Amino acid sequence: MRVLKRTSLFLVVSSQFQGLNALAVVVESSSIPDISTSTPVRTKEAIVVGGGPVGLATALTLSNQPHCYNVTLLEKSEQVAFYDPSRAYQYNVNVRGLQWVDQFPCVLEKLQIRGLAPKERMGRICYVPADPSEPIPPVKSITEVKIRENRNFWVPRHFMVQLLGECCREQEVDRLSRGDNQKGSIRLLYDKEVDSVEADSTDMLTVRCVDGSTYTASLLVGADGVDSQVRSALADSQKGTWLQSKAKKFQVRKYRSPSTGLRMKSLQFPPNFRLANTTGETIATAPETMYVLRSVNKGRRNYFSLGLLPVKDSTLVRAANINTRWDHEVWGLETGQAVKEFFAKSFPRIAWDDLVDKAEWERFAKASGTTYPFCQFSPGSSVASPSGDTGVVLVGDACHAFPPDIGQGINAGLNDVLALDRALRGQDITTGKDTVQPESLSAALSIYEENRGPEHKALIRLAKVGAPYQYRQPWLRDRLGRFFWTCNVVVRMILNKFSGGFIPPPVIVLMQQPELTFRQVMRRGAVTARLLKVGIITLIFFLSRRRL
Ligand SMILES: Cc1cc2nc3c(=O)[nH]c(=O)nc-3n(C[C@H](O)[C@H](O)[C@H](O)COP(=O)(O)OP(=O)(O)OC[C@H]3O[C@@H](n4cnc5c(N)ncnc54)[C@H](O)[C@@H]3O)c2cc1C
Ligand SMILES: *[C@@H]1O[C@H](CO)[C@@H](O)[C@H](O)[C@H]1NC(C)=O
Ligand SMILES: *[C@@H]1O[C@H](CO)[C@@H](O)[C@H](O)[C@H]1NC(C)=O
Repeated sequence: MRVLKRTSLFLVVSSQFQGLNALAVVVESSSIPDISTSTPVRTKEAIVVGGGPVGLATALTLSNQPHCYNVTLLEKSEQVAFYDPSRAYQYNVNVRGLQWVDQFPCVLEKLQIRGLAPKERMGRICYVPADPSEPIPPVKSITEVKIRENRNFWVPRHFMVQLLGECCREQEVDRLSRGDNQKGSIRLLYDKEVDSVEADSTDMLTVRCVDGSTYTASLLVGADGVDSQVRSALADSQKGTWLQSKAKKFQVRKYRSPSTGLRMKSLQFPPNFRLANTTGETIATAPETMYVLRSVNKGRRNYFSLGLLPVKDSTLVRAANINTRWDHEVWGLETGQAVKEFFAKSFPRIAWDDLVDKAEWERFAKASGTTYPFCQFSPGSSVASPSGDTGVVLVGDACHAFPPDIGQGINAGLNDVLALDRALRGQDITTGKDTVQPESLSAALSIYEENRGPEHKALIRLAKVGAPYQYRQPWLRDRLGRFFWTCNVVVRMILNKFSGGFIPPPVIVLMQQPELTFRQVMRRGAVTARLLKVGIITLIFFLSRRRL
């Protein structure tokens, strides 16, 4: 029962954190003067659907000044903050996402404690060869590309959800204990699956949950992920209220990328697992190093690798991820024993008996895994009532989703929350500089939508071309695609270097400059593409003249 033991370890670790937080709240509240005598701010009601990272971030933003919404967050799962092997991925919160995080000291502090801030760029990686007679090379730094600003944190998904939830709860405890009437309240409700959204005659929105409960508000935020129920309610052209007045714009546009449809499952390794090197001795792995374990398989239906992302906490299990095509042999294995035998043949270097127990092989065999989505976005991201005082807005995966290759999922979502914050405050969304205060909620939401539409479209184009072959998908088509993709990136890197930075680097590098919007990233990428075309045509022209 090694798996169970590991899971309970997580709970111990997280409850320790919670204990610390409770303490922090007590200390803080006793040292701050009572402010209940000041005039209370005018509060409004907001509902956030979805308690993933983006929903929780929205709750924090909306409850604070100057918005002061009383926020009710409805999350369908009860387990959202717990470790779930099927969602055992690591977020890399980078400079884009940190623009939002930096506004909330509570979130930043917890992220600094629980997240891993790599010392160099995105961290260090070690490629472990399949052949046990080949030595394990030393770890190396992950990119050779110079990135101007390099703040980023690796954090497991459940840690991110936990720490944001804690910040919401701490803020609420603090508000109540100080009699603080300068903020809205936050109420986090779990086991609340939203089923439908309606607009009533008084201009209020009513959200109905599967359990029959209803909630009303003047602002509704859909943060309910890729299969958003809120978005579906807005896209339903059969109903005729103002909610569906832009139904067409909420039809999702989908594009296939080379990583769309890949299946992912993870096998759990113990913390600090060891690997056999050639000299007969074993080497200890480091939690903060990424590992790629190659298999001996070469075929289009059996080639694969195991990828492990870095963690800070040296007591955490390491999730070894498989990302591959649907027709791979591994997906057909039905028993733990069959999986174990397949892995033993594919990875002869690894002492499987020491690493993975029977229960984990069984769990892996039975798990259904996840499938990478289409690169998709909803051109519409907000709708408001004719009076202008009531509205619905989409943030995060509810509005755009894509496979994790560019590592921007969480960052793009936090960008939306910042964009919403700025639109409501009357600040320019890109620069954050003060402009005119919008006259109504409806005006602010239109500004949000006008900015997000093109931004999300560019983000989806970036997701399609950014790094879609990084899983070394095994089909012939993938291998060719990977070759051309690599050539393209290398040529752009060389041009960038020899033009002294005049010709922009590939979009995957440009994306790491936080001051550029995704639109600017893609526009610059297009400039290089045009230059390349002109260059190639010119070259062909001169070569053909020479021959004549
Ligand atoms: C396999 C995989 C790996 C990924 N890896 C990365 C990565 O490495 N880095 C990265 O940045 N991003 C990654 N992503 C993307 C990332 O998960 C998302 O971008 C991010 O979680 C978006 O956050 P969100 O809060 O918008 O949505 P979600 O995290 O999907 O949260 C939505 C929440 O809404 C709840 N919900 C859904 N419907 C309802 C309803 N009807 N009523 C109430 N609640 C509801 C869900 O239970 C869920 O808790 C990955 C995605 C996948 C699938
Ligand atoms: C918001 O909550 C406070 C109590 O926490 C309450 O006094 C106030 O009336 C609420 N505002 C609205 C608009 O319901
Ligand atoms: C593995 O062994 C080789 C040969 O002895 C050595 O050069 C290499 O550094 C070792 N790898 C690690 C990661 O220690």
